Amino acid sequence: MTDFRSAAIGVFDSGVGGLTVANAILDLMPAEAIHYVGDTAHLPYGPKPVEEIRHYSEVIVGYLLDQGCKLIVVACNTATAAALEHLRQRWPEVPIVGMEPAVKPATAATRSGVIGVLATRGTITSSRYAALASRYAQDIRMLQDPCMGLVEHIEAGRLHDSETAALLQKVLAPMQAAGADTYVLGCTHYPLVIPLLRELLGDTVTLINPAPAVARQVNRLLSERDLLATTPPERPLLIQATGSLDSFRLLVPQIFHQAVILESLDLGDR
Ligand code: DGL
Repeated sequence: MTDFRSAAIGVFDSGVGGLTVANAILDLMPAEAIHYVGDTAHLPYGPKPVEEIRHYSEVIVGYLLDQGCKLIVVACNTATAAALEHLRQRWPEVPIVGMEPAVKPATAATRSGVIGVLATRGTITSSRYAALASRYAQDIRMLQDPCMGLVEHIEAGRLHDSETAALLQKVLAPMQAAGADTYVLGCTHYPLVIPLLRELLGDTVTLINPAPAVARQVNRLLSERDLLATTPPERPLLIQATGSLDSFRLLVPQIFHQAVILESLDLGDR
């Protein structure tokens, strides 16, 4: 019987964004195997109704568990807001880790008392986000923007072109004018434009990417259950996409240095 400790960690997102989380997990735990699903057939999740995202998430998690994954990471803020509680109820025995916009660390980091939150519409309008804001940002001014179109630009590999810069400039202008000194990257796609954000915002602002904290949480849960991999994975990083593979072909070589298997995934008529 194979040791369950060598089973993969299942990670999913609507597209390439969750790779920023997979990367943080492998940085912290290089012995772990990852099975990644990008739901590019239904991208973007941000503007879609909660029930629809919940359904897609449930199908993907069911698939990853059928494939033998030992822990699931919902590497998408929008899917976390829409589906995390539901997924945990459906699979109470499975450790499931979600994303949370880093409002709490941002409120600790800001000196000006103004923070900017970049996230999708689904995240910003969620009750999870409202609860975070009322819990941690009582005395802080929080400005948020759904960054319409940014996920699509990133999926197209346009991490640094003039149109992506113009889109971001428009989003950031009111935040800068209000004196924001700390910015929450509340969508897993957005760390991919950190170099552009640095150019637009300068070096003095704080950008908060929650991926390393999520990786530490995965490490804690695996360690508590004695499920940390003990030997390097036998197979390369497995990445599957339900629709187009183009964004993965473009961005995977920029993010990972290890061997990657990239393939199409048919999850049937969902
Ligand atoms: N990467 C996802 C997130 O963290 C959403 C991107 C999308 O809108 O599909 O929210």
